Amino acid sequence: MSATEGQPAFASRVATAAKKVLSTKAERFTESVIREMTRLAFEHNAVNMAQGYPDYPAPAEIKEAARQAIADDYNQYAITWGAKELRDAIARKFERTQGVRVDPEREVTVCCGSTEAMMATMMGIINPGDEVVIFEPHYENYGPDTILSGASPRFVQLRPPDWSFDREELARAFGPRTKAIIVNTPNNPTGKVFSREELEYIRDLCVRWNAFAVTDEIYEHIIYDGTRHISMASLDGMRDRTITINGMSKTYSVTGWRVGWVIAPPDAATPIRKVHDFMTVGAAAPLQQAGVMALELPPSYYQKLAEGYQAKRDRMLGILTGAGFRCFKPSGAYYIMTDISNFDFPDDVSFAQNLVEKIGVAAVPGSSFYDDPTMGARQVRFTFCKKESTLAACAEKLSRLRPS
Ligand SMILES: Cc1ncc(COP(=O)(O)O)c(C=O)c1O
Repeated sequence: MSATEGQPAFASRVATAAKKVLSTKAERFTESVIREMTRLAFEHNAVNMAQGYPDYPAPAEIKEAARQAIADDYNQYAITWGAKELRDAIARKFERTQGVRVDPEREVTVCCGSTEAMMATMMGIINPGDEVVIFEPHYENYGPDTILSGASPRFVQLRPPDWSFDREELARAFGPRTKAIIVNTPNNPTGKVFSREELEYIRDLCVRWNAFAVTDEIYEHIIYDGTRHISMASLDGMRDRTITINGMSKTYSVTGWRVGWVIAPPDAATPIRKVHDFMTVGAAAPLQQAGVMALELPPSYYQKLAEGYQAKRDRMLGILTGAGFRCFKPSGAYYIMTDISNFDFPDDVSFAQNLVEKIGVAAVPGSSFYDDPTMGARQVRFTFCKKESTLAACAEKLSRLRPS
């Protein structure tokens, strides 16, 4: 055999050897379907109703605060666990809105978005073999978060139309190996806002099994029809077993700033802070400074935010229902989960593909929110955090859809 003939075999052996040392953890999850849909939206010049980011300007006063912070030379590393002024502002706001008093010196950690906050939390509290209870459909990041932290997920279904859960099923998911339950309220993708009664039921299971509640409350101010957001940490008995995750992205329409935070009791905050430090060191210092100003905005800001999104929700419900979708009306967050049974497609992925390529609208296939893709095969999620001209373009394009 000639040297050149031998080369492909050698190259393939090297490739195999290199592949062996790659992470088997990373092989267990795919790239983000949501962000892939955004890429496809650009490719097909489609209206992007897939990824949850506003396409209108962020509030002028917050942008001015960021500009001012750079001019004032907040340009070096902030304290690893967050600029003191921002941690103080986070603690003040949590007490003001939820009545929970926390120590900003020991219990608040600022991260690069709530995405990092959740990952740092999981890496900080999980040991191999620990189980984490997750409601599904769920925000897609929780899958990789559990895999990378080494947790075994235990899924519990939220069932349409009201996305309630079976209490027996939830109770069965808890056990001696349960380290935590992830509760995302208001919820992405369903729009469910957990009631006090539901949170108390979850609380009782956490107490019984000595588990943490890790709550993702990033949509806390995006709530409709007089619904109230309740933080798990405000419930009796949960102050010291709740890890609350939140951030600036959605409340202040600055998803690209990457400022989020974790509020955790000191024993949990210590490992979370260590993981955070070695993962990212810290969030952008001038944007943390702008956060101080944002978190002091008056109640009227949050009221206007919710009212504005409620009008968009109603507009989008009209558009989707008119186009033939069955919609599950959200009580919070800025997504509408739909049922696509009226359309003649074998599954959600082929439907979403046709929608972006032929109709010109990007949405997220429901299966990306489930461990078992067949569970989401009749569902597709649309966001509505878009300006009126985008919603109008979406309506115009969806009018070409033909229900069977
Ligand atoms: C439930 C939920 N958590 C977290 C995030 C990400 O937040 P951040 O921008 O703070 O990383 C999103 C974004 O869509 C989300 O829907």
